[in-house]
Amino acid sequence: MKKIEITTEYLERVFPAFCQLSSLEEKRQITKVNQDMFERCGWSSIEDACFSPALPDCRLVDHINAVMEGTLAAARCMERYQGIEFDYDNIIVLAMLHDVSKLVEYEPAESGCRETEIGKKIQHGVFAAMLAQKYGFSIHVMNQILTHTPRSKMRPSDKEGALFARVDIGNADMLHYTHGLPLFD
Ligand SMILES: [Fe+2]
Repeated sequence: MKKIEITTEYLERVFPAFCQLSSLEEKRQITKVNQDMFERCGWSSIEDACFSPALPDCRLVDHINAVMEGTLAAARCMERYQGIEFDYDNIIVLAMLHDVSKLVEYEPAESGCRETEIGKKIQHGVFAAMLAQKYGFSIHVMNQILTHTPRSKMRPSDKEGALFARVDIGNADMLHYTHGLPLFD
């Protein structure tokens, strides 16, 4: 299987809001995490990856874009109308990393998508947090990745992580709702 090359330019094309990240160092780190994860995965392109085996027609990249831009928009509204300040770079970092482990938790199958051994045995997000640490992200970012999912027994510990987790589950709920499945959580 021929796999595409993952570069910062590719990620900026597939994830338009990634262009807004002001830190070039974090852009480089996110690209490294995506390259490393992608080398381990069974997909020929990040754009081929599924959101979940239950929703094989839903692309992971569409979910990431909806949640990244949705969280940025919600944060801007709360800042404008309620004076709540957010770290917008941090929201983009979390959005770009939170589901990157789905690349190795799922793999292509005749049905569209199935769980891998990693998906069955390692809690969602843990592999993403491991690679985030490998490429220099802080304990804070690891905590945000690990707590974005309701599978975690720990909850987010900051505004950006908390808002992001709600928008993320909201999007999963909408995908489930519009495909005749029970709400996500
Ligand atoms: Fe997600």
